Amino acid sequence: MEIIEKIDELREIVKKWRLEGKTVGLVPTMGYLHEGHKSLIVRAVAENDKVVVSDFVNPMQFGPTEDLATYPRDLDHDAKLVEDAGADLIFHPEPSEMYLDDFSSYVDMNTLTKGLCGKTRPIHFRGVCTVLAKLFNIVTPDKAYFGQKDAQQLAVVKHMVSDLNFGLEIVGCPIIREEDGLAKSSRNTYLSPEERKAGLVLSRSLKHGKEAIEAGEKDATKVIGLITDEINKEPLAKIDYVEIVTWPDLKEVSTIEGSVLCAMAVYIGKTRLIDNFIID
Ligand code: PAF
Repeated sequence: MEIIEKIDELREIVKKWRLEGKTVGLVPTMGYLHEGHKSLIVRAVAENDKVVVSDFVNPMQFGPTEDLATYPRDLDHDAKLVEDAGADLIFHPEPSEMYLDDFSSYVDMNTLTKGLCGKTRPIHFRGVCTVLAKLFNIVTPDKAYFGQKDAQQLAVVKHMVSDLNFGLEIVGCPIIREEDGLAKSSRNTYLSPEERKAGLVLSRSLKHGKEAIEAGEKDATKVIGLITDEINKEPLAKIDYVEIVTWPDLKEVSTIEGSVLCAMAVYIGKTRLIDNFIID
């Protein structure tokens, strides 16, 4: 398993793989890898001859008051996990390798990025789309793998790939949870033991909402009410949003029918956590 920092070097390696007729999978990450990432890598390894894991904390997708400086990083740990999962290569560029001083081209989207996380993170998806467009151009993968925990990101990336005719398949993979239900996230490491317990309110309240829908509740406002009531019982929790939208178009719904995404972002102390479920 190699760690490559330079775009040209990576391109040469991929070129060689292509000449050998190999298929290539990409797992884009910001590092500090956990079991959720590992599940994506394992799936990519099963479905492709060669797998690249990008490990890049993308400055462009962080707002000025967000956690870019403190975002956890541990390349040695990541390298071990990637090797164990069977991938071939980590792409770990410096920000200056990805964004030259005169960088001035962006990929943005009018729909899908304005609601949910886009409301409080207005520049986030522009940064995500731009870095992914670059990674897709550099790696030219056949398939790229994304977790459903960032459901809005998954919908946005699929739409971008279709809009801009990137010739690859986007594969969405299930949320991986801790045994007690907390969705795995690199940001869980920010939580104190007390906050870690409080963080369970996300999966617990979503479970209530899902059960209500499964029992026949079709009124989105009522389901959201059930969920927010549960979250508000937790003193350390502060709701950013709880919403039910169509999946994958992310349009607001009042009556629950067809495929819907129920998504939330909740601050536990200073840490913003997200979680969701999709129901048909
Ligand atoms: O989900 C993430 O970790 C990031 O948003 C991604 C897709 C790697 C782009 O930087």
